[in-house]
Amino acid sequence: MRLAGKCAIVTGGASGFGLGIVDKFLAEGARVMIADINGDGAAALAAERGDAAHAQQVDVGHAASVSAMAEAAIEAFGQVDILINNAGVTHLPTPLDEVSEEDFDRVFNVNMKSVYLTARALVPHMKANGSGAILNVASTAGVSPRPNLNWYNASKGWMITATKAMAVELAPKGIRVNAINPVAGETPLLKSFMGEDTPEVRAKFISTIPIGRFSTPEDMGNAACYLCSDEASMVTGVAMEVDGGRCI
Ligand SMILES: NC(=O)c1ccc[n+]([C@@H]2O[C@H](COP(=O)([O-])OP(=O)(O)OC[C@H]3O[C@@H](n4cnc5c(N)ncnc54)[C@H](O)[C@@H]3O)[C@@H](O)[C@H]2O)c1
Repeated sequence: MRLAGKCAIVTGGASGFGLGIVDKFLAEGARVMIADINGDGAAALAAERGDAAHAQQVDVGHAASVSAMAEAAIEAFGQVDILINNAGVTHLPTPLDEVSEEDFDRVFNVNMKSVYLTARALVPHMKANGSGAILNVASTAGVSPRPNLNWYNASKGWMITATKAMAVELAPKGIRVNAINPVAGETPLLKSFMGEDTPEVRAKFISTIPIGRFSTPEDMGNAACYLCSDEASMVTGVAMEVDGGRCI
């Protein structure tokens, strides 16, 4: 019960890595808001998981929606100790000069603007409490980019810098800010990174991961649990690769 008594919001919590984090946090004693643009999916998962799980429909790129999420979490839990900025999207593998403005704006809003909007909505609350942990789900793409995912890569590099900048500013307020950098993982988003899901493309991706497998939602749940628990009380501003050695 490493997160007993903690209350967390996990954006994009209805699928993939977010759901892995939700399940680990529930298993470790936290109360969790599954906050997702897929409100029905979040509601169904929360109902399955019982009283410690709450569902909230949110668009993390939309200011009013993020404010409503923060208010609902504070109303449901009394306080928010942990914020996981996990919701993320990509454009399909495309030469950088051919990505549409619509796709660029979607990546910008969901992967970057969301970090600002959730901070604006929840940092004042955490400052008032004198404590908090924020975890940004960035990517190895922000450290060691692959071609044809340029604006996605850049959004994750932005997220890593935002993590460090937030950490240094918020440390005196008792708020820690960290990131994890997952390598390609077994989630519904994987196909979008690979372009096509064939044994050949999978083998090509795995050949770049020294540990020899894709990452999993459980890997992200375990890393997130450590970084958001009091065990990591001296750890802030890190962007921790969870990548089987891909970035070495
Ligand atoms: N899967 C990978 O290979 C991989 C690798 C590195 C980093 N990541 C990052 O991990 C995070 C989670 O990705 P995943 O692979 O679990 O993807 P996923 O598609 O399985 O899950 C993403 C979730 O976010 C939700 N979402 C999308 N847009 C939203 C919005 N505007 N507001 C609220 N919720 C929204 C979706 O409904 C979905 O439930 C993303 O930030 C992604 O960039 C993924």
